[in-house]
Amino acid sequence: PRKVIASPSILAADWSDMKGELQKCVDAGLTHIHVDVFDGVFLDSPNALTFGPQMVKAINNRFPTLFLDIHLCVDRPARFIEAMAAAGASRLIFQWEAMGENPLQAAISLAKRVLESGITCGVSINPTTDVKEIIPLLQTKLVDLVDILAVEPGFGGQPFNPIVLDKISQLQQWRDSREEELQFAILVDGGINKVTSKSVIERGADILVAGTALFQHPRGLSEAVNDLNIP
Ligand code: DX5
Ligand code: ZN
Repeated sequence: PRKVIASPSILAADWSDMKGELQKCVDAGLTHIHVDVFDGVFLDSPNALTFGPQMVKAINNRFPTLFLDIHLCVDRPARFIEAMAAAGASRLIFQWEAMGENPLQAAISLAKRVLESGITCGVSINPTTDVKEIIPLLQTKLVDLVDILAVEPGFGGQPFNPIVLDKISQLQQWRDSREEELQFAILVDGGINKVTSKSVIERGADILVAGTALFQHPRGLSEAVNDLNIP
């Protein structure tokens, strides 16, 4: 059977007790953490100013075995590559909509730089962006993950947009119909809870990012993970 995992988004954690929150993740057997990096520019709201390389470094120092997925919802993401890699990021997920005029060319050169820095690279698309747009990038094999946003990025706790269900299926079918093996994981990000998790797993998601559902569960994080219906 396919391996599906949960990846907690620390955006929804108690920021005044990040060490305690991450320890709960480790205790619940989780191996991945999702760090939303908002710079207040690409996402222009007062809320959208979050974590930088120093936070990543602090997490990595304290919890060196955690896989740190860094979601760069920022303007000019290239400026963070070296600092994030040095801080202990495991993978940088950049936002397709931040790529500018010539997104494919920009994404390719960005991905190459990420790989040169010794870590892996993923691409994220907004709910309304068609998966067809990123197919040429996936064919380059430079990225090993697609983050399908099920909410407009910027805030935790927003409702899941079901428009993404068909996108997950399309991507999964495209990946599995290739003759040559294309190895990229499908991550779904935003609005994941005990109801929506079922349908995204059914459609082929490999990684479920959840913030609110995991960190703000009334019976604690382990129960919250159980609620996500991971097979
Ligand atoms: C969306 C972020 C998500 C967010 C998910 O802005 O990219 O990672 O933290 O949070 P929930 O699970 O609360 O929707
Ligand atoms: Zn994210």
